[in-house]
Amino acid sequence: MAHLALAGGPPLRQKPFPHWPIWDQEEVDAVQAVVSSGRWGATQGTEVRHFEEEFAAYQDATYGIAVVNGTVALKLALTAAGIGVGDEVIVPGYTFVATATAALEIGAVPVFADIDPHTYTLDPEHAAACITPRTRAIVPVHLGGRPADMEAIRSLAQRHDLMIIEDAAQAWGASWMDAKVGTLGDIGGFSFQASKNITAGEGGMMLCNDPAIGEMARSLSNCGRQPDGLWYAHYVLGGNYRLSEFHGAILRVQLRRYPEHLQRRQANAAHLERGLAEVEGIATLHQDRRVTSNAYHIFFFQYRAEAFGGVPKDRFIKALQAEGITGAHGGYSLPVYRQPVMQADNFGLATRPLFHGVYPHTPDYRTVALPVTDRACDEEAIWIRHNLLLGDRQDIDDIVEAVLKIQQYHDELQA
Ligand SMILES: Cc1ncc(COP(=O)(O)O)c(C=O)c1O
Repeated sequence: MAHLALAGGPPLRQKPFPHWPIWDQEEVDAVQAVVSSGRWGATQGTEVRHFEEEFAAYQDATYGIAVVNGTVALKLALTAAGIGVGDEVIVPGYTFVATATAALEIGAVPVFADIDPHTYTLDPEHAAACITPRTRAIVPVHLGGRPADMEAIRSLAQRHDLMIIEDAAQAWGASWMDAKVGTLGDIGGFSFQASKNITAGEGGMMLCNDPAIGEMARSLSNCGRQPDGLWYAHYVLGGNYRLSEFHGAILRVQLRRYPEHLQRRQANAAHLERGLAEVEGIATLHQDRRVTSNAYHIFFFQYRAEAFGGVPKDRFIKALQAEGITGAHGGYSLPVYRQPVMQADNFGLATRPLFHGVYPHTPDYRTVALPVTDRACDEEAIWIRHNLLLGDRQDIDDIVEAVLKIQQYHDELQA
């Protein structure tokens, strides 16, 4: 009789993990209050404004500008930082597509640097090797909630006079050397999309400390208006990227609940680290002491197929899921530079209006190969979603047990 669930045996667990999003009557009341108020837009009510203030205070930032999503936050953050057509922007290859497409959408050119194999965040040395006379900015991604090496990135930016736009879409409450992310560079972007640890279904936020950048970001998000200008006077090429009061109201409740969730995720992540450290063929990421808070949107571990009889990553994931570890995932299946949109024909089509006649150096991403990023996508990176870290110790032990079970009976997975 088979032991592994994927081979027809009994699953290790059937109990569901905590479901995401977590909400209660507070969110319902908050939305109901907005409905009843009749003030549904941020220019009428106070929910979004209060959320901006509260989130900025939580992240120790001076300015918070809420927008419709994290992609827009990055796009406007780049623009507010002075990045535009033809400027090269260094981004990691291992990230969500929006880190790069936000740059493309404003006519800037993403240049892909590899990630550090021990942290999955931007490799500062490789980023340095990507610098050309056209480089204007660097976009570290605090992937999974783990801050990138901001010490090295800041020194690189200083040496080459580059702006730093943090992609903190997954990093609420994360800190580097006790300083919260989002304002470790010039401006940062956050996401509150449905899968995120603080969510209203959609939403985004820019944070910065510089008043000029903050004012520009605000204006870009509000149709190019100025604070003291007339409603129908538009000064810069902005758009309506404002968040609604419904979103603001939910996000305020989510933020109040967040510190306890963050603590629980961190405690369970530490337990999971210890458990997985005992498993041959599984590596956890490097715990850099300078990462003083990891938001654990994703708990990563690295899978070595050799220790599992050569079972490929995809099959290992399926086996884990079948055992009841439903939040295990293979993560980004392609590096951003291998996404169809970035390959020559599609890339030309998608970006022709932006680059045509303006920028002669249209990059050819078919030639990009970043070994650590490629390996993470193809063979190695396993993601555990953040909601699994909101359970109890038994939930965490089950993840380790499921990995051990697959290792013991990997023969059952051979085709
Ligand atoms: C690393 C990263 N950057 C950018 C984004 C874009 O955020 P959104 O989905 O809110 O547009 C996301 C979220 O999906 C993300 O994970």
